[in-house]
Amino acid sequence: MSNWLLRLAVLYLIAGVSLGLFMAASHDHSMFPVHAHLNLLGWVSLSLFGLFYRAFPQAAQTTLAKVHFWIYVPSHFVQMILLTLLFRGYTNVEPVLGVASTLVGIAIVCFSLVVWKSTRHAD
Ligand code: HEM
Ligand code: HEM
Repeated sequence: MSNWLLRLAVLYLIAGVSLGLFMAASHDHSMFPVHAHLNLLGWVSLSLFGLFYRAFPQAAQTTLAKVHFWIYVPSHFVQMILLTLLFRGYTNVEPVLGVASTLVGIAIVCFSLVVWKSTRHAD
């Protein structure tokens, strides 16, 4: 799971930086929230998840960690597609974007529980 999180993280880094370069070159910064969340919920968060599961391999084996992964990865992907559409003027995507974002939030709560449970003992 750690490997997949790190591999997906660098794909989001490429996507986020490509959009950043496009925004800088075109002087059209209107997509900056998409850029920010591709980089922060994609590259940064996925890397931190991946490195955490690397440091606590037993945590990666838990059902909660698998729930975290399988809710977060698809929901965040859908969230980024819908956020792009929203900033392209498709305002009708907003309710589904709300659902995807809430699922991302739920996955983050699952991850937080995994962190708390697996760091209970000092070692
Ligand atoms: C070559 C790489 C990058 C380029 C060319 C780039 C370009 C940009 C541009 C043009 C903006 C819009 C600025 C504005 O209108 O205020 C922006 C905003 C932002 N970028 Fe990047 N970016 C790059 C990499 C990154 C990375 C790696 C991260 C995070 C790890 C990041 C995080 C952000 C954030 C959070 C904002 C929003 C800042 C705000 O609220 O004003 N960027 N970037
Ligand atoms: C489900 C999760 C999240 C949701 C729904 C969300 C939503 C939002 C919204 C609505 C804004 C204001 C956008 C605007 O006014 O243009 C925003 C801005 C921002 N968020 Fe998030 N956020 C989430 C997670 C995160 C995380 C985990 C980070 C950092 C690791 C982050 C970093 C930022 C930054 C730096 C900004 C300012 C740049 C911008 O406006 O795009 N967000 N977020």
